[in-house]
Amino acid sequence: MPRELSLAEVFQLGYYWETKILLTAVKLDVFSLLDGQGRSAAEVAQKLGADCRALELLLNALVAIRLLTKTGAVYANTSVATTHLVKHGPQYIGHLLLLHDAEWGNWGKLEEAIKTGRSPVTQHVFETDPALGANVLSVLHRIGQQSGPDLAKRLALGQAKTMLDLGGGAGTNAIAFCQVYPSLSATVFDLATTLPVTERTIKDAGLEGRIALKAGDFNRDALGGPYDVVLMSDILHYQDLATNAALVKKIHSHLNPGGRLIIKDRFLDASGTSPAWTAAFAVHILVNTEQGACYRTAEAMQWMHDGGYVSVEEIERTAVVQGVKPSAGQS
Ligand SMILES: C[S@@+](CC[C@H](N)C(=O)[O-])C[C@H]1O[C@@H](n2cnc3c(N)ncnc32)[C@H](O)[C@@H]1O
Repeated sequence: MPRELSLAEVFQLGYYWETKILLTAVKLDVFSLLDGQGRSAAEVAQKLGADCRALELLLNALVAIRLLTKTGAVYANTSVATTHLVKHGPQYIGHLLLLHDAEWGNWGKLEEAIKTGRSPVTQHVFETDPALGANVLSVLHRIGQQSGPDLAKRLALGQAKTMLDLGGGAGTNAIAFCQVYPSLSATVFDLATTLPVTERTIKDAGLEGRIALKAGDFNRDALGGPYDVVLMSDILHYQDLATNAALVKKIHSHLNPGGRLIIKDRFLDASGTSPAWTAAFAVHILVNTEQGACYRTAEAMQWMHDGGYVSVEEIERTAVVQGVKPSAGQS
């Protein structure tokens, strides 16, 4: 049994002030204004067109949180703020925080969502704000670059020649897989609004010759192929169960015999309470998508069984499931 929470920890859980202070500072782009030079609250307020007294309170709180320093009346960035919160820096992660800020209003409707079972939104962020979605993908790409090659190696795709990265986003997985397997070529399929980011990351990786781009809606459009491997990474939690089952079935006809469908997602265990991050993510998905849900691995495996796949297995707990299109004569 996990240890029970202390009262102090319960208080801490209910305490979101610092979260909104950080998100607002990123939204106002305070850290970029302080890049390379300290400024007084009056100077920052003047540049932002903000109220000086209110802004000073925000800056003081950012000092207390340890994102800024204050010497006399002059505020400056700490080194972590300089590295990760100054816009246009190579390691800027603000886009992800801007996404959290954009979703703030939806979280305010959680009580209503719980009572009615309905999400307050009708579209997810990749549809409503493609520019923000694209920026978020570039941050996720930077983070994912560390784990992509390990995943590629663990999947042992040595024989595969062609791969489809469905809803491939910035192409993080396609790039990592092509780097690990020199004879592999990939296609990244995604919405037309997302592909400019993908094009950039592929160019940066020098893989334009081995990774093709295909624009479309994966539920409606043809996916090309057939492929030896199809990867669906972090796309199914935006969609309802029936749509996912249909998509898994559709992919079967885009695979070569013996080809593999690999689904990597944030799955819940049978109890729905673990992994802990995913149990909270499931609530996030409830309030921020109309149709989405965090699924159990068993549900994804059922979509594969129903779609005609064999050798269906959970190859990484609550993270990766795989099915194989039968070879001729195999069932
Ligand atoms: C959370 S991102 C995952 C990106 C990538 N697979 C990864 O693991 O890093 C979800 C991706 O699915 C794409 N997407 C969502 N709905 C789509 C649809 N109907 N057709 C094609 N792509 C879609 C989004 O544009 C986005 O790039």
